[in-house]
Amino acid sequence: MKIVQTIAEVQSFVREKKKNGQSIGFVPTMGALHKGHMSLIDASKQENNVTVMSIYVNPTQFGPKEDLASYFRPIEKDKAMARDYAVDLLFLPSDETMYSRLQSVAVTEKHLSQVLCGAYRPGHFDGVCTIVSKLLHIVNPDRLYSGMKDAQQLRIIEKWSKIYFSLCKWFQLQPREDDGLACSSCNNYLDTNRREIAPVLFQHRNKDNKHLKMV
Ligand code: PAF
Repeated sequence: MKIVQTIAEVQSFVREKKKNGQSIGFVPTMGALHKGHMSLIDASKQENNVTVMSIYVNPTQFGPKEDLASYFRPIEKDKAMARDYAVDLLFLPSDETMYSRLQSVAVTEKHLSQVLCGAYRPGHFDGVCTIVSKLLHIVNPDRLYSGMKDAQQLRIIEKWSKIYFSLCKWFQLQPREDDGLACSSCNNYLDTNRREIAPVLFQHRNKDNKHLKMV
């Protein structure tokens, strides 16, 4: 596995692979890797010649009351997991790399992002859309893989990425823990009690949605 930190290194790696007719699958993450991410890598490896993963804790998607500094960042463990799963290129950009230029330019979604969780997290979805847009421009993948843990994020990205990144196909998977809870690094924030009751959401929904599939 090759680990790089600069945009130029990612672009030269991808350009070289594409020149040789190889397809690129991309898994963007904020790290704290878990089995959900691993199933995204597996899917990418089955469908592409090359799998690129990014680990970047994006500061602009943290709301004013959310603690960026205490976000869980087990980077050495993450690198080892990515290596075990045979990721080909791991992109670990710094804040300077992602935000030093064009700081005044951002991607804003004006409707869906204003309701539900977006109403309580001002700027969160602009941060997500902006970073996903930057990453897609840098990596230029053939296929993008993401988990379905956040329904609102999924709909928002899906909406504009279909228009602005129409050449990149997008695959959504719904990896779950054994008890049905959607795999997410945010589960690290749940204390024992909350972690125990969280799968109720899935169990309740699953009762009325027989088609909902665990993968
Ligand atoms: O869902 C996530 O892990 C993040 O929001 C993403 C898409 C990697 C952007 O930082």
